[in-house]
This record gives sequence, C-alpha cells and structure tokens, in this order.
Amino acid sequence: MSEEKVKAALSKVTYPGFTKDIVTFGFVKDIKINGEDVEVHIDITSSAPEVAQQIREEATEELKRAGAQNIIINITAPQMPKESSSRGKNIAPQIKNFLMISSGKGGVGKSTTSVNIAISLAKQGLKVGLLDADIYGPNIPRMLGIEDIKPEVQGNKVLPIKAYGLEVMSMGSLMEQGQSLIWRGAMIMKAIEQFLRDILWSELDVLVIDMPPGTGDAQLTLAQSVPVTAGLVVTTPQTVSLDDSRRSLDMFKKLHIPIAGIIENMSGFIAPDTGKEYDIFGKGTSEPMAKEYDTEVIAEIPIEPAIREGGDSGKPISFVYPDSESAKRYAQAAEKIWNFIEKINAEGGVDNEAVQPTTPPGVSACSTGAAPQQSHSGGGSCGCS
Ligand SMILES: Nc1ncnc2c1ncn2[C@@H]1O[C@H](COP(=O)(O)OP(=O)(O)OP(=O)(O)O)[C@@H](O)[C@H]1O
Ligand SMILES: [Mg+2]
Repeated sequence: MSEEKVKAALSKVTYPGFTKDIVTFGFVKDIKINGEDVEVHIDITSSAPEVAQQIREEATEELKRAGAQNIIINITAPQMPKESSSRGKNIAPQIKNFLMISSGKGGVGKSTTSVNIAISLAKQGLKVGLLDADIYGPNIPRMLGIEDIKPEVQGNKVLPIKAYGLEVMSMGSLMEQGQSLIWRGAMIMKAIEQFLRDILWSELDVLVIDMPPGTGDAQLTLAQSVPVTAGLVVTTPQTVSLDDSRRSLDMFKKLHIPIAGIIENMSGFIAPDTGKEYDIFGKGTSEPMAKEYDTEVIAEIPIEPAIREGGDSGKPISFVYPDSESAKRYAQAAEKIWNFIEKINAEGGVDNEAVQPTTPPGVSACSTGAAPQQSHSGGGSCGCS
C-alpha cells in the first residue's frame, strides 16, 4: 500500500454538504502505512457527529476497496458548541451566535454576501437565521424570492419566513412592497430590538445579520442588545471602498466585536464565455488592510453575472449553482467563519457589557443619542418615539 494509493482512495470521500473531497480540503493530516494496514488522521471543521460518522464510513469503505486490510481512522473535530459562552445583555438568548455583516459603503455586496454565507453555513448542517437589518433598503426578500410572502403572526410575535433552509426576517416582509419609510434614530433602535425580541426565531446556531451601510445607530443598538460573536466586513477592491471599510473595522474594535475576516467582493471578473479573468476594480488590495487589523481576507469573490442574476431572481448562487467558483468560495468562507465562531466560544465567548449605554437612570437614553436602556415594556420602547 502506498501513500499515493491511500490519498487517491480518500479523495473519493466528499466532505458532507460540499462538492470537494477531504484531501482537497486539506483535512487529511497524517497517513501511516504498515504493509496493507493503514492509519489515517483526519481533522475536520464541523462539530456535528453525523459529519464525522459519514466520513469515517466512506473513508473505511474506499480504503477497503483500494486493498487496505486493518484500517484505523482517527477523526478530530471541534467541540460541539454548548450554550453560547457569551455574557452581557442578550434579548434573544435562544440564538447561540450572532454574525454582523457590515460595509463602509453601500452597494458593495453586503446583502449578496449575507445571503450566500447564510446558505453556505446552513449547508454545513447548522441551524441558521438571516436578519435583514437594513431598515432603509431591505433587499433580502427579493434576493430569496420571498417578496410576496407575508409572515405569520402568532399572538403579538411574528414567525420568521422559511427559505432555502433559513429562517428569514426583513422589514421588507413587514411593510408593503415599494413603500418607503423615513427612519429616525430612535425608530431604528426600536426596529432592531423588535427584530430580535418579537420574532419567533428558533434555537439557532447562528443569526447572520445584514446591516445597513456605514457605522450608525443600527450597528450600535445591535451590539448593545445581543453579544455579537463575530463581525465580517464586505469591501470592493478600490481604494475608496477600502477607506470606508477601515471605518467598519474600527467600529468592530470599538464595539468589542471579534473580526472574523474580510470578504473582497467584485474582485476581478471571470468572463462567462472564455473563463478568462479580468481585473476591473483591482484585486487583492484588501490584504494589507486585513493584516493591519490582525485579520484575514477569507474570500475573493469575482464579479459573476450569475451572482447578480441570482440576486435579482431570488435564486442565490450558493444554492442554485453550488459548483460555481463563487459558490465554492462562499462555502470556504463560511467554513472559516464557523471555525472562528467556535474558537471565540472556546476561548470564553464575547461580552457586550462594555458597550452598554452609560446614561444615568431616569434620563432618556434617546435624548443623548445613545441607545435605549433595557426596556421594561414588551415593545422595547425607550420613551422617545
Ligand atoms: N460578485 C458579484 N458579481 C456580480 N454582481 C454582484 C456581485 N456582488 C454583488 N452584486 C450585485 O451588485 C448589486 C449590489 O449588491 P448588494 O445589494 O448585495 O449590495 P449591498 O452592499 O447590500 O448594497 P446596499 O448598501 O444598498 O444594501 C446587486 O445587484 C448584486 O446582485
Ligand atoms: Mg444591502
């Protein structure tokens, strides 16, 4: 038995939920061969026991088929996240982790990224919610093809809408189509609180939150309402976009939100007819910024017509074309994000105590421009509507 033969056998084992095999993913860490006996060490990124079980069975079968006799498969996996280890204020305690997706600029692809990352996380076997917290310009319903679906009301709570294996909620699903609303600071805070408190989210592994562009009231309120486990910055490669992305990264630091990474979107263009790659906005320019903030670029997503078409027609590329280059990159980014979240939890989780409003009791937090204190009524009112 040779190492090549073992590797060839193991490369027939696809990682559950993905199209790539465990060798290509780099999960096979060690191979020991003694005559026809084989011992392999596989290091996987999912904590779901079914994933390890499936890999064990398939790897054993493939190695047997290749002629191995005694087979030992050692699999190491990250610890199953128990209850979130995070502390501080949490108005949606049934949700174990929160992922905030931000950008300095509008139109760089936050919503597209949120949708495809949420779907990719769900494909890993996680229970995922997607909250469209872009109250000014909710686009998620169209991107998921649920713009005509009205959510079900249960008592004074609202059930999230189900789409592509996700639980979803958006201001776009709560208001009439095309209706534009002018939001003031205090209203934004209330809306964010209600999205967390009054939507009947299940016990989610992670809630992916698509934020409005910039660093404003919505971001602050979210960070004060729930312990945000990780932040992700979406940027395009142009210098002007990078400048704004720095503000998002600074905001994460100020809000004590661990930075999971940067996604460089619209990074090059792959021509659909020739497959040739063109550099349009530049490419790879986010790398130095990532280093500066001690984080990494977890994906470079090219401009692909199928991404835009998927967004417009409610058919996300990660679901509809899982074999496309972009879908694979989203999947890898989602793996990295989940590994990061598990690492944060293993190290004790996050704590949002330090970002709570400091307004003395009796003073309206809203009048100071800070976020509301813990509300005592069900409506999340801070008394300044
Ligand atoms: N990699 C890509 N390739 C092709 N089209 C893309 C890509 N990323 C985003 N788009 C398209 O660009 C447009 C803007 O993307 P999106 O709505 O996700 O940005 P956003 O940052 O959420 O914008 P806003 O700030 O307005 O909320 C959409 O039409 C989307 O389909
Ligand atoms: Mg958007």
